[in-house]
Order: sequence, then C-alpha cells, then structure tokens
Amino acid sequence: MSTHKAVVTVAVRAPLGLIDVPTVAPTGREVQVHVEWTASTPLDLHQNDGGLLVTHPQVLGDGIAGTITAAGADAKNLAVGDKVFGFAFRENKQKAYQDFATVPETTLGKIPAGFSMQEATTLPNNTVTIFHAVTKDLGLPLEWPRPSSASPHAETPILIWGGASSCGQYALQILSHWGYKNLLTTASKKHHDYLKSIGARHTFDYHDADVASQILKAAPHVPYVLDCIASQQGSLARIAEFAQAGTVVAALLPVIIRDATDDVAPEYSMDTQGVVKWADGVEARGVRTHFYEDDAFFKEHLQSTVVPELLATGVVKPNKQRIVEGATLLERAQEAMNLLRRKEASAERLVWRVSDLKL
Ligand SMILES: NC(=O)c1ccc[n+]([C@@H]2O[C@H](COP(=O)([O-])OP(=O)(O)OC[C@H]3O[C@@H](n4cnc5c(N)ncnc54)[C@H](OP(=O)(O)O)[C@@H]3O)[C@@H](O)[C@H]2O)c1
Repeated sequence: MSTHKAVVTVAVRAPLGLIDVPTVAPTGREVQVHVEWTASTPLDLHQNDGGLLVTHPQVLGDGIAGTITAAGADAKNLAVGDKVFGFAFRENKQKAYQDFATVPETTLGKIPAGFSMQEATTLPNNTVTIFHAVTKDLGLPLEWPRPSSASPHAETPILIWGGASSCGQYALQILSHWGYKNLLTTASKKHHDYLKSIGARHTFDYHDADVASQILKAAPHVPYVLDCIASQQGSLARIAEFAQAGTVVAALLPVIIRDATDDVAPEYSMDTQGVVKWADGVEARGVRTHFYEDDAFFKEHLQSTVVPELLATGVVKPNKQRIVEGATLLERAQEAMNLLRRKEASAERLVWRVSDLKL
C-alpha cells in the first residue's frame, strides 16, 4: 500500500503532528488530487484548540487547490492534469493538509484561466457557506442561473455582521450580484471603503459602543442578519440590541464564548438561541455548511460550475492572501495555526503550499 504525509491534530492544544496515511485510489466518481495549496480557516483552531468535532489523529483542512493525478472510472467532469479547487471534509482521505486527497469530483471545479491556485483556494469553503446560509438559514433565494428580473428583496435591509471576514466578503459580493442592494455591514473602519466597493451600502465600525443605534438609524427594522463572527459578546449580544420580532439571525457556528489565545483555551456553544437574550419573535439559527449537499443542485453543481463561473466572470474576487512560509509542510501548517490563534489576519486568508513532492 502506498502512503503519503498528512498533518494531523494530536491532542487538544498540542502542536500539530505529521503522520503517514494511505494514498487512496479513486473509485466511481472520485478523483485523486495532488494538494498544492490551501487556505487555513478558523475551523482549524476550533478543532485543534477546542476539540470541536474531532477524533485524534484527524487530518486537518478542507480547502484544496491542486492537480488531478487519478480519476475513478465514472468521473465525467475532471481528468488527470486538470488544475482544480474545492471544499471537501467528510473523511480523512478528503482533507486538505496532505500530499494527496481523494474526493468526489462534485467537490471540485476547474480553476479559471488567469487565476493562481493561491487565489482560488480562498474561495471554496466560504462561497459554499454563503450559498448554504443564505438559502437554507435566511431563506432567501439565490437561483442559478441568476434571474434577469429585479429581486423582490432589492431594498430589504440585510446586515452582514463581520464584512471583513472571508465569509463576509463573499456574502457581500454574492448577495449584491443577485440584486440584494440594501446591504449593511460591520467591520473595522479601515475596511469600509473596500467593503463599499464590493457591495455594502452602509458600513459600521463594530468597535463603536453605539453601533446598534447607528444601525437602527440606517434601517429601523433589519429582517435578515448573517452573523459571520458568531461571538457571544462580539456579535450576537450586539445584534440582540437591535433585532426585533420577525428578524432572522443566521450565525456561522460555533458560537464563540471565549476565543483561543496562546494562554487560554477557547470555549464554544452550538446554542444560538440561548447564549444571549433575544427580543420575543427573533429567530436565531446556527449555520452548518456541512449539510449543503442535502440540496441536490448544490451537491452536483455548486462547486463544479457555479463557483468557478463566479470567479471567472469577476462576480467574486478572491480574498487577499497572506502567504505563510516554512521549510516543511508541518512547519507551514503550524505557523498558520499560530497566526490564527493570534488573530493576525485582518481581511485576508492565510494561504500556504501543502505538498513538497515534485511530481
Ligand atoms: N458553521 C459553518 O458552516 C461555518 C462555515 C464557515 C465559517 N464558519 C465560522 O465563521 C467564522 C468566520 O470565518 P471566516 O473564515 O470568514 O473568518 P475570518 O476571515 O478569519 O475573520 C477574520 C475577520 O473577522 C473580523 N472580526 C473579528 N471580530 C469581529 C467582530 N466582533 N465583529 C465584526 N467583525 C469581526 C475581523 O475584522 P476586522 O479586520 O474588521 O477587525 C477579521 O478581519 C469562523 O468562526 C468560522 O469557523 C462557520
């Protein structure tokens, strides 16, 4: 049996490990990818430092950019040599922080001409998250192909809390392309001009003590809130200051009760309704993107067709990248984890080379 190297969790808040894992030959509609680049996400920290949904040793990472090295007999979209990007997470063989991943071809799309793997790998996890959260948790349509008529919600206020986050940036770009024009967002002041350039109509600094009353001045009732931060005190408690009966809040789980730092372990909750005091009639839902494949269209077409086309046509611009350096796969993965824990990335993705193999 051939094997390759993979980065794994070892124990809660322990340094990452490097182990040999089986290189799995693809069957059916699976393909095997030589994983060249990835982008770290906060889930790495939730799993390594918080033990969230983890059985050690677990291979980390779910965003892949690389080259197809083998295809199962029934693969029809992709062939050996294709340059691809995508989001897969179900088993260790599908995960990103290893030399080779074996994944369903529906979890990948071809990288459009003119885009690097470093750019492309910032997209898959969080564009999928936005399609899932907006349609399933907020209940707002994102039909494909996009209808040519104006959206009935063109002027409905929709607040994206945390517009500078990767999810927030993709939410603004996707919603505005689908005709949702009355987009409000919170972010540090230095990001306001950029967020306006990608679709925000109103921007607010979440550090301001009176941010809730500023939001209410711009929109006396905000029926839809997408909370891309889901921090008990940093976002949900602030949203509870202005949310009224009829407001739906979709928060990207987990709810962060206490953030991980170098000295302190994190604490999480899955209870969006109970962690703060909501006004009567506010519905607070927890988003779980891992269920996006329950939608048959999304399962087949979201990653293979929709996301590549949004990138190719400039509807969605990649997040800014900060390249994480290191002499080995393990060093780069560990450095990215350290940067996540220190919250050093602001409106950018931590992007790093995965495999050192020269094929
Ligand atoms: N459950 C799911 O299905 C799912 C899917 C995807 C992501 N998530 C979760 O969603 C969260 C966001 O992920 P991400 O990758 O988009 O994050 P990210 O890009 O790492 O977010 C970093 C940004 O968060 C902003 N921020 C921090 N605290 C804030 C606050 N209190 N209010 C507003 N903005 C704040 C900072 O903005 P400034 O620079 O403006 O300060 C920073 O630029 C993570 O916890 C992730 O695990 C969940």
